[in-house]
Amino acid sequence: MTAGTPAATSAGNDAANTNSSVSSEAEHVRIFDTTLRDGEQSPGASMTFEEKLQVAELLDEMGVDIIEAGFPIASNGDFESVQEIARRSKNSVIAGLSRAAFKDIDRCGEAVKPAGQPRIHTFISTSPIHMKFKLQLEPDEVLQHVSESVARARNWVDDVEWSAEDGTRTEFEFLCRCVEAAIKAGATTINIPDTVGYTTPLEYRELFIKVRETVPNADKAVFSVHCHNDLGLAVANSLAGVAGGARQIECTINGLGERAGNAALEEIVMAIRTRHDVLPYTTSIKPQFLMRASKLVGAVTNFPVQYNKAIVGKNAFAHESGIHQDGMLKNAETYEIMKPEDVGVKATSLVMGKHSGRHAFREKLSDLGFELGDNAFADAFRRFKDLADRKKNVYDEDIEALVEDEISTRGDEMAKVIALTVIAGTGGPQKAIITMEVDGQHITKEANGDGPVDATFKAIRAVMPHEGHLALYQVNAVTEGTDAQAEVSVRLEAGGRIATGKGADTDTLVASARAYVSAMNRLALRMKSSNPAGGALKAS
Ligand code: KIV
Ligand code: ZN
Repeated sequence: MTAGTPAATSAGNDAANTNSSVSSEAEHVRIFDTTLRDGEQSPGASMTFEEKLQVAELLDEMGVDIIEAGFPIASNGDFESVQEIARRSKNSVIAGLSRAAFKDIDRCGEAVKPAGQPRIHTFISTSPIHMKFKLQLEPDEVLQHVSESVARARNWVDDVEWSAEDGTRTEFEFLCRCVEAAIKAGATTINIPDTVGYTTPLEYRELFIKVRETVPNADKAVFSVHCHNDLGLAVANSLAGVAGGARQIECTINGLGERAGNAALEEIVMAIRTRHDVLPYTTSIKPQFLMRASKLVGAVTNFPVQYNKAIVGKNAFAHESGIHQDGMLKNAETYEIMKPEDVGVKATSLVMGKHSGRHAFREKLSDLGFELGDNAFADAFRRFKDLADRKKNVYDEDIEALVEDEISTRGDEMAKVIALTVIAGTGGPQKAIITMEVDGQHITKEANGDGPVDATFKAIRAVMPHEGHLALYQVNAVTEGTDAQAEVSVRLEAGGRIATGKGADTDTLVASARAYVSAMNRLALRMKSSNPAGGALKAS
């Protein structure tokens, strides 16, 4: 057995005092990344086995203290990815999530066992509404589960985290009894989540101060925050919890997560770095990795990052207005509180065009934070040359869109678009003729539709009939100008499963077809993993 993290220190308790009394050891805040668990629970954001390994490898390299790799009881796929991430981990503690049931905990213990530093994270709801309606258990029964589940987890590992689900809506006295019982049974980290994103900063800070003052054995555990963003307060609440003495922050890349998401890791890390004067803490995160991590997670989940997203949004460091640009030219600090390069945004140095070769393209990819295997690189390079033939200026955003499209469609391609012709215009009905490769075979179909996009999607459905319902269709221009690439996101939904696909091309209809087929491939994978015998899709 391995103790995943150092034994709890009095760090958390000191922290409720004034900032000046906090010792330097006490200032360190652990970053617990749950992109692969809570983030992946976000509808439509699921990742393949390979993608999860890729994300975990980057998080490990980036300095994440604890990676929550998944929920092993949820599916065989989850179990296998947690186990493989545990095997490959180098620096980070690898945690798996489990409910309070023994079979969950044992499955989780088995999955994290290969890690150098394994952790079991077990949880149960403690709020009146969850206990009554979700668990249908009396408080004393829940309390008993707390002790038993933590003790069971301690049979597997020394590093056990216990969470009070819906902690911020839990009655204070009962919360304290549960926390005390969990620590007594051997929990070394205590998490009080704001599961429904309901709390506010001052309230959350007070909660940590009071729980730690009230629970007699509180000094034997590290306290943790876990905030959802339903009211847009997840990051503020997390930092407030730290001011109240928590020394672990649970968060996700890009703030991915259930509903409005979790607290965004990049925002927390950069807030602590930039405002060290009022947030006197440190983290182990290497901030130069933040943009790369954001792009990777955005690409593998197909969840676009909003343009004005703090730290990693496309516009986070863009200065449009004349006054701002003038100030920036005189001194960047007039309008910039962080340097773009601090978070891994590289200044554009290499202009790409149709004369750029493989070497320059590889350099550019590495500047943009992409590392592709040989086959993916060859395909991306071919597409880049093709784009450079059609488009005079190839901007970084064009290359990013192209590579993200390549990443998001690779590896799970049951079907792909080979050729598309669309007849559109005022005359109607619009008509699309598509050729697709399905399991190595070329199939051509045509369809009329109410507009060219409708005709294209109908033609794809004629090749591959499926039950997927179109839940989202979104087009963005990657850059300016009429020759800009279109980046299209498509979300399909069938039988409670959701899959998102992305496509990029200078032709909006080709990008739409690629996005639709990518979503369809992902949906098929998802349906197959939940029902190996059947499948939502078939080639006609
Ligand atoms: O939001 C939540 O309460 C959770 C727990 C499982 C920690 O994700
Ligand atoms: Zn959560």
